[in-house]
Amino acid sequence: MCGIVGYVGAKPALDVVVEGLARLEYRGYDSAGVAVLADGKLATAKRAGKLGNLRAALEEEPPPAGTLGMGHTRWATHGPPNDRNAHPHVDCTGSVAVIHNGIIENFAELRAELEEAGHGLASDTDTEAVAHLLEDELKAGGGLAEALRRVCRRLEGAFTLVAVHTGDPDVVVGARRNSPLVVGVGDGENFLASDVSAFIAHTRDAIELGQDQVVELRAGGVQVTDFEGRPAEVQEYHVDWDVSAAEKGGYDYFMLKEIAEQPRAVADTLLGRIGSDGRLRLDEMRMSDRELREVDKIIVVACGTSYHAGLIAKYAIEHWAGLPCEVELASEFRYRDSILSPTTLVIAISQSGETMDALMAVRHAREQKAKLLGICNVNGSTLPRECDGVLYTHAGPEIAVASTKAFLTQLVAVYLIALYIAQVRGTKWGDEVFAMVQLLERMPEKVEKVLETMEPVRELARSLAGERCVLFLGRHVGFPVALEGALKLKELAYMHAEGFAAGELKHGPIALIEKDLPVVVVVPPRARAVLHDKIVSNIQEIRARGARTIVIAEEGDESVGPYADTLISVPAVPTLLQPLVTTVPLQVFACELATAKGHDVDQPRNLAKSVTVE
Ligand code: G6P
Repeated sequence: MCGIVGYVGAKPALDVVVEGLARLEYRGYDSAGVAVLADGKLATAKRAGKLGNLRAALEEEPPPAGTLGMGHTRWATHGPPNDRNAHPHVDCTGSVAVIHNGIIENFAELRAELEEAGHGLASDTDTEAVAHLLEDELKAGGGLAEALRRVCRRLEGAFTLVAVHTGDPDVVVGARRNSPLVVGVGDGENFLASDVSAFIAHTRDAIELGQDQVVELRAGGVQVTDFEGRPAEVQEYHVDWDVSAAEKGGYDYFMLKEIAEQPRAVADTLLGRIGSDGRLRLDEMRMSDRELREVDKIIVVACGTSYHAGLIAKYAIEHWAGLPCEVELASEFRYRDSILSPTTLVIAISQSGETMDALMAVRHAREQKAKLLGICNVNGSTLPRECDGVLYTHAGPEIAVASTKAFLTQLVAVYLIALYIAQVRGTKWGDEVFAMVQLLERMPEKVEKVLETMEPVRELARSLAGERCVLFLGRHVGFPVALEGALKLKELAYMHAEGFAAGELKHGPIALIEKDLPVVVVVPPRARAVLHDKIVSNIQEIRARGARTIVIAEEGDESVGPYADTLISVPAVPTLLQPLVTTVPLQVFACELATAKGHDVDQPRNLAKSVTVE
């Protein structure tokens, strides 16, 4: 939530900052703003709405050219999304500007104190308090970095803050607690951003900032301390993708590009994890065989689409690894008396590695001494640092707000983990694990095949653009797929969409069925005869009540044809792997339907990609 960019170097700061904001707009698009220091003066501009509004304002009234600046794209927490509440916020003297991602929980107190002391606050935001606190601290001397350190010590909550000050014209200062901030290291220039995509066009060398650190960014170097001013150790890393991965590459939307990239993303996530002898190698889990054998329970925590990957993980882990597995929404997990011990393995799944609820769940599990494994897509993010081990999904940058390729790669990661545990614990014979691994290796081509046959799905989606509601039914791993299909439609098409376990149909959902209501049904492979036949009965039951049935089934499944108003065939694969092929038509369906309704599928209303507040 909220995207942040800072720059100092030799280039026109405004260009670098606005270009960076364009890459971060997926994080929030309620308003955008910039601040530039030029000739010892601070110039700011901000506008409600998407970045385009700010760009137009900047063209109309360009600020003076400077080589130091910062910018912000907002997902509103405190105060409505208008010009007044857009960042940057300035102090009473107009010499300090601040941008912020997160929530300052004690802001009401701070605001009251500031007002009492005579500060005039112009916005409804929590952020503005920081600008005025800095104003006071700057009077005490020590410069902007020291002032920010002192202010941070007074703040509660989650924040990334970046500030500039006319009195320190060569430095951009940033601070980080519980919200993301990375440094881009250039030659005679340096960058700050919520994620590396903002500066990837300029440098692929980055520095991870730790918790409670303050960074001073100058053209010639970067200095990092803790909130007390003690020098901090930092970790540099090289980003293994380039700017082309963060661009649309000829597609109208990032989401379309990301859907199309799925075969490669799945293949990349398998890469290097299967030895030439067919055995899995997951050293990244950082768990010895002995530790893995001691594990007696697995709990998966995640949010949103990642939670749906977690639900599928349960089927895979219980089936292959023979371990009890619970799946919990991260936001619920830590408020429940979950039973954890040092032999519990908690797996946190998060594309961004920055979702606050997921991070809090990890910290809660850590306190109870559980072992922690992350599944994450973003190198340098917070979640991997807080876990004992991490399995990176190699989906590449996912920019569209609704998750697609990250989901498929999360599935690959959970399959790998479940099979690896089975290998170590001997719950499956070596050749069974090997056979499944070989099937996994063929999944990129299966996903590719699905993508090649999506035109009828797009046509169907366009024909349903006028509908108000769509239901999704599934059984076994098809149930989380149904939930995911419904979530995609909610996120993108703003339609009422619900996913149900098909077995629950008669316990309520069937009452919703009325004439021509579109119902998508995900059918398990014929090899799971009992499951398969039961869902075929469900299809007949809803059709008898007038539903319009859209059936996703494996190729050659003749039994569903007579009951399907629309039949979508996907390649035949083992049941547990089926979500890799059945989810894809649902992504395409939601994307096309939303586009037909005229929605911006990359930036759906009210949403943000990375939910860094609770
Ligand atoms: C937001 C995004 C979803 C995502 C969820 C969890 O709601 O819009 O697409 O699934 O956060 O994000 P994470 O980064 O933790 O996977």
